[in-house]
Amino acid sequence: MTLSIRLAALSVAALAAVFLAGADASPIKVRKDLMDSFGSAAKTLGKMADGSLPFDATAATSARQSLLDAPGHIAQAFGPLAVDASSKAKGTIWSNWDDFLARSQAVGTAAAALDTTSAETIATGIAAVQATCKNCHSDYRM
Ligand code: HEC
Repeated sequence: MTLSIRLAALSVAALAAVFLAGADASPIKVRKDLMDSFGSAAKTLGKMADGSLPFDATAATSARQSLLDAPGHIAQAFGPLAVDASSKAKGTIWSNWDDFLARSQAVGTAAAALDTTSAETIATGIAAVQATCKNCHSDYRM
């Protein structure tokens, strides 16, 4: 091995070590954080709908946006097959990938139909959005 190849190999190893050291690099953490962001978006909208949080057009629009973007983000975050004791993701996600993606698409479709112009319009559509969360969790989350 020439010196330059050795140095190149060393720097690749060093980069890999830096990558692994960052807790954020864990695919399980990435997808849990993503799901938590959906959790807070759904909670914000649900609370506006039932009146326990005052209606706020900006917050409602941004919560809806995060759900509109959900399908792409879910596909990306769950791309790496990763199962371990800290995760509630079922291994069947990766053996039924197309179905899993279809269920994530449903979140975007329901969010697109959600009218966030008032607490009343949110109240009309929020159950349909929440149903899409449940529809995936019931089969793909332990
Ligand atoms: C396509 C499937 C799918 C859809 C759709 C989905 N989830 Fe999840 N969700 C999962 C899976 C799988 C997990 C378990 C992730 C893990 O533990 O690795 C999860 C976990 C969660 C968690 C726990 C995260 C944590 O910190 O452990 C919350 C909160 C959550 N989802 C909220 C939602 C909400 C709200 C929606 C709807 C707006 C939603 N999810 C839609 C599959 C889905």
